[in-house]
Amino acid sequence: MPQIIDICSLQELPPGAVRLVEWEDLEIGVFNCAGTVYAIEDRCSHDNGTLVEGELDQDACTIECPRHGSLFDLRTGQPKTLPAYVPVDTFPVLVDEEMIKLEVE
Ligand code: FES
Repeated sequence: MPQIIDICSLQELPPGAVRLVEWEDLEIGVFNCAGTVYAIEDRCSHDNGTLVEGELDQDACTIECPRHGSLFDLRTGQPKTLPAYVPVDTFPVLVDEEMIKLEVE
């Protein structure tokens, strides 16, 4: 069953900001990329790098894994560069009355 969880207000996550959210046994990175919020699992598909600690490129909408440098598209979770080649899970983001929410299951 999908579940909607509150993250924080939009004001608390301005463009360029990143937040780590824990939900059950998942760690999810929430990114404000030039005004649009995206959420992906905080675990690189190559070797478990912590993506929230990587460099966010707001123009390209990518996050760079801090371990070996794979770039992931935040919109899709797809890696754009090696060594990762398997996508990372993404989560639908809703903004409801300035509150950021995620749909998880
Ligand atoms: S752990 Fe992310 S590229 Fe290796």
